[in-house]
Amino acid sequence: MNSRFTWINGEMIASDQATVPFLTAGLHYGVAIFEGIRAYKTPNGLGVFRLREHMKRFEDSSRIVGFLDMPHSVDEMMEHVCATVRANGFGDCYIRPLLWLADGGWQLTIDSGKAHVAVSVWEQSVYGGKSTVAEGLKACVSSFTRHHPNAMMTKAKVAGNYVNSILAKTDAQRNGFNEAIMLDPQGYVAECTGANLFVVRNGRLVTPPADAILEGITRDTVVALAQDLGIPVQESQLSRDHLYVVDEVFVCGTAAEVVGITSIDRRTIGAGVPGPITSAIREAYLSAVRGTHARSERWITLT
Ligand SMILES: Cc1ncc(COP(=O)(O)O)c(C=O)c1O
Repeated sequence: MNSRFTWINGEMIASDQATVPFLTAGLHYGVAIFEGIRAYKTPNGLGVFRLREHMKRFEDSSRIVGFLDMPHSVDEMMEHVCATVRANGFGDCYIRPLLWLADGGWQLTIDSGKAHVAVSVWEQSVYGGKSTVAEGLKACVSSFTRHHPNAMMTKAKVAGNYVNSILAKTDAQRNGFNEAIMLDPQGYVAECTGANLFVVRNGRLVTPPADAILEGITRDTVVALAQDLGIPVQESQLSRDHLYVVDEVFVCGTAAEVVGITSIDRRTIGAGVPGPITSAIREAYLSAVRGTHARSERWITLT
């Protein structure tokens, strides 16, 4: 991972010096919350996509986990993110703010430790490799169940939640698929391991309700872009067999952007290539993040 500088607890230092002690509760118990954000080259300079929304979710995640005092406000975190992006001097890049339980925390309570915060930045590579964009992803339905919201707090981007994602994605890839689709504890479609999911049926976009998923900022972006394009959108429970008979399926997330799924459990979806609505949404999304869409100005923070 190519990263030059990391902002850690108020100091900008070389990334290889940004280390945490082995005896850090956040590392031992998975008590850390994070964000995944991207900056893109735009005609007006490097811009961070939907930075305020990401830092608001960061604050929400820390509140959900139970940190009572955020060490930095949303506005301050936005400044620290921009400063770290500038310090690294990359073009398109991925940004990772992380808040973790440190300075104690061994009593298995948030209150027995303190929040430490860092922001790191690295050069972005293409999710799933370049060919997956043209060909679409091959997905399976995972045998692992997505978290129940009363167990792991699905609205928070908690480090420990991702053990479930890693179990599912490792299993999927060892079985020859690119991605795993996860069902919620009731057996309805929830999301992928690090992205939300939409299906297209009869010209209408359908996505699972927010109950058991991370409410993706890309998901919200897709809804707005679809409305601009006159494509109706609805939140609705989807069963596994729905997935097999819809016209198109795509995943969306900060890392994934918008990518079609062209087979699920070895059943071909639609024509077996990313469909026209997936392609239209992908194109609008790339225009939005690159600063050339009518909505870009509202969504981009120049660094
Ligand atoms: C589990 C999960 N769902 C959905 C998403 C998509 O969220 P966003 O669009 O905010 O990146 C992510 C990525 O952050 C994720 O990890």
